[in-house]
Amino acid sequence: AVDLKGRHFVKELDFTPEEFLGLVELAADLKAAKRAGAEEPRLRGRNIALIFEKTSTRTRCSFEVAAADQGAATTYLDPAGSQIGHKESVKDTARVLGRMFDAIEYRGASQTAVEELALHAGVPVYNGLTDDWHPTQMLADVLTMAEHTGGGVAGLGSGGVAFAYLGDARFNMGNSYLVTGALLGLDVRIVAPRAYWPSEDVVARARKLAETTGATVLLTEDIAEGVLGCDFVVTDVWVSMGEPKEVWAERIAALAPYAVTMDVLRATGKPDVKFLHCLPAYHDLGTEVGRLIHEQYGLSELEVTDEVFESAHSVVFDQAENRMHTIKAVLVATLA
Ligand code: CP
Ligand code: NVA
Repeated sequence: AVDLKGRHFVKELDFTPEEFLGLVELAADLKAAKRAGAEEPRLRGRNIALIFEKTSTRTRCSFEVAAADQGAATTYLDPAGSQIGHKESVKDTARVLGRMFDAIEYRGASQTAVEELALHAGVPVYNGLTDDWHPTQMLADVLTMAEHTGGGVAGLGSGGVAFAYLGDARFNMGNSYLVTGALLGLDVRIVAPRAYWPSEDVVARARKLAETTGATVLLTEDIAEGVLGCDFVVTDVWVSMGEPKEVWAERIAALAPYAVTMDVLRATGKPDVKFLHCLPAYHDLGTEVGRLIHEQYGLSELEVTDEVFESAHSVVFDQAENRMHTIKAVLVATLA
């Protein structure tokens, strides 16, 4: 079993491919144990701090439920309710929380902040999303891919699995998919207008990794080329948390052709192609943002059509559930 005692998880590249897949395997085991009513709590008496400088549904709930299932306690620090960043530096916060807690989760804009926490806390620090990376999401997405391909977790690295990410690939999700695909030896494609590709630095890191893992890395503006042969089509919101409303017009103009429609799924040539989205998704008018977009731009769907989202291709709620099992694996592997 994977043993990462005391380790941080601030980005995907903190782990080797074996360690990363070991966490996914552990998550699959923990999921099976919970379903069988046979989960063994291995974190009794542990305390975990959850710092959220940006809002969350899945990540927060995953940490809280995972910790409770394992017998650990959590303390939630909301975006407005702590001194961090306003009255107290990250470095001092790290040293305070490190004296009280056995581990710290951090979500916020700054990758530097989560890395500084890790440097000074003296306990494991986990990245619950920054503008640069969303590493715990990658564990859930890889578990979900493993569940929906023949070979399971073990079969993932053998080069058989292909996925395409469509949309704004310059932010956390695009970056994370590119390096995770490269790390695990997958066939990873970024399909977006060139201006929305990950930075040269991230692309270079992925290409370097691919040399040793056997991954194939393709960046293309061409949707047909990008999705052909893919087992999974993936997207994310076009405007991320913390970005101003003013960017919507430019994003919609640039990314509308890259929305995931039934035609895009058909273009994979794979009848069983699955659709993934980390969520939240804007695919109907039932949200504040959905209504705003409809009023201002006359659109009722954005990065994915409602038809795709609600279809049998969509495994987004498996993915959401898997956030909890995979975050539990991180807690168990680093703390038990
Ligand atoms: N996918 C994800 O991170 O969701 P939350 O923002 O709800 O945590
Ligand atoms: N790119 C999105 C992901 C949300 C889970 C954001 O940062 O808002």
